[in-house]
Amino acid sequence: MKAAILWELHKDLEIRDDVSLTDLNAGEVHVKIGSSGVCHSDLSVQNGTIPMPAPCVLGHEGAGVVQEVGDGVSDLAAGDHVILSFTPACRMCKPCLRGQSYLCADMMPMMVPHFIVDGNPIMGMTGCGTFAEEMVVPQSALVKIDNDVPLDVAALIGCGVTTGVGAAINSADIQPGSSVVIFGAGGVGIAAVQGARIAGAAEILVVDLVESKLDQAKNFGATHVCTPDALDQMKTEITGGEGFDYALECIGNPITIRATYDAVRRGGTAVVVGVGRLDQKVEFNAFEFFYNDKILRGSMYGSANVRTFMPELCRLWKAGKLDLESMISRRIKVDEVNDAFRAMEAGEVIRSVIDFN
Ligand code: APR
Ligand code: ZN
Repeated sequence: MKAAILWELHKDLEIRDDVSLTDLNAGEVHVKIGSSGVCHSDLSVQNGTIPMPAPCVLGHEGAGVVQEVGDGVSDLAAGDHVILSFTPACRMCKPCLRGQSYLCADMMPMMVPHFIVDGNPIMGMTGCGTFAEEMVVPQSALVKIDNDVPLDVAALIGCGVTTGVGAAINSADIQPGSSVVIFGAGGVGIAAVQGARIAGAAEILVVDLVESKLDQAKNFGATHVCTPDALDQMKTEITGGEGFDYALECIGNPITIRATYDAVRRGGTAVVVGVGRLDQKVEFNAFEFFYNDKILRGSMYGSANVRTFMPELCRLWKAGKLDLESMISRRIKVDEVNDAFRAMEAGEVIRSVIDFN
């Protein structure tokens, strides 16, 4: 079968058609991937921002159909439609029991090799590896969805949509009638815009460097858009200078993380969704936390319980309240994934989606 492999950081992925899978063990599931989104985090593994050992089959935003289940798998069967969850929700570890399954303790243990190339075992990104036609994953990494949700739409829910909508609804807990600013209008940022709209925000400002992204953001619920240089002016116009109730950073850049904290009013909430580098620092003075009484929080996988939140997102999509089709800018084959990385870096797309059928 085909898979896209990162052999070395900063190098193009190699598309191989002679990849095979490890045997199906107890508790594991064999899935045929239907679609995979190309997310910025894939690029962040390739360029070393997100530490992940190479070689590695990239891809973590995907959906597919169960082919076969291993011994002891009782809640999934061949033919089921599933979304890959890059953080499993094992329902047994302390974080899961606390209601924080997005921090499931099985995330790292899930990262074991399931692909075989040239006779050697190779890992998939985050234990997934959705830039492959088929894969083997533990059952806890799969979320069953209704079979009438198309797999391209479902794939987006696998990362960017859960991350962005969840950041707005769960992490920020945006309230009706509030003012929101969102930094970055990629797949995650556009999902956050939709989350803010669903939550009932009165004003949603989107900040991005790329003009075409700003135009598109308006189609998803942005009420105002601007480039970073015009942010202060927009803050005055929308909030009278006080600052926004909520700000969400969907880029992963120290400058925009700092700007996110600065954009909210005293007592407001700033959420960092983007993933920056381990060696990058954001500076705060020791006085401002006390004086501003702002909430500054991170957001992992939309602070969501994937087992309830992903099916809810499917229902929002079915009800016409979450526009996922329009987030697919390009449909590609896995052979074109390196071009999709370049298109993402150039700001040309919200999402490229790989079609495996
Ligand atoms: N100021 C404003 N906008 C910026 C800046 C900046 N300094 N730098 C980049 N952007 C914009 C880009 O133009 C692009 O529209 O941020 C957007 C990022 O979108 P994508 O590259 O599509 O990234 P996405 O997949 O949405 O992920 C965003 O979330 O999950 C994390 O790892 C992911 O850190 C990444 C972030
Ligand atoms: Zn992702």
